[in-house]
Amino acid sequence: MKFDIITIFPEIFDSYFSESLIKKAEDKGLIEINIHDLRDYSIEKWGDVDGKPYGGGRGMVMKVGPIYRAVKEIKNEKKCKTVLFTPRGEKYNQKKATEYSDLDQIIMICGRYEGVDERVKTQIADQSISIGDYVLIGGEIPAMVVVESVSRLVPGVVGIDNEGFLEERVIGDGMIEYPQYGRPEIFKTDEGEKWETPEVLLSGHHKKIKEWRKEHGEIIN
Ligand code: ADE
Repeated sequence: MKFDIITIFPEIFDSYFSESLIKKAEDKGLIEINIHDLRDYSIEKWGDVDGKPYGGGRGMVMKVGPIYRAVKEIKNEKKCKTVLFTPRGEKYNQKKATEYSDLDQIIMICGRYEGVDERVKTQIADQSISIGDYVLIGGEIPAMVVVESVSRLVPGVVGIDNEGFLEERVIGDGMIEYPQYGRPEIFKTDEGEKWETPEVLLSGHHKKIKEWRKEHGEIIN
């Protein structure tokens, strides 16, 4: 699984991708993350990647040319999707993450400034994606969200044995997330309260535990 991120702020990803399970997954060769500086694909002096919008208005628009050249050069797998991040896009969810985990390459275009030339959406991207109903400054955080949510579905990336993990967590198109408790069995607060672990989880009764988790869990898709 190859993640290619096109951005004008490549350094934003340095710390995030050089730590934790994402780094381990990369070291093990389970995933590959490539960060591409959009300015490298500019053919203008100063590496300009934005310009004034036709029709007037405040702010600048990201140009179609550099993005076109970047995607053309980066795309090298058949099972590939090119995604543009925009608050106007289709809502990202667990189902999309599962769909993406079946690809060999995801090219992500991080929009910035006040917008991106519409031809990036209509001619270059396969999908426009929003990670929620709020407006961010750019698509860099959405790109991290996609890398993390897709990577954890790649076998071997999360610490636990993946087959068992999937068997336990996957229900239909979604994944069940249920409440978890660890030691101590009863936590005593300074105010004298006792915060207890539900009896059933201590019972060792697998069928009942499974039922309890289903009842108290939520299917995310
Ligand atoms: N760019 C700005 N806001 C965004 C959002 N909510 N999702 C994806 N890309 C964005």
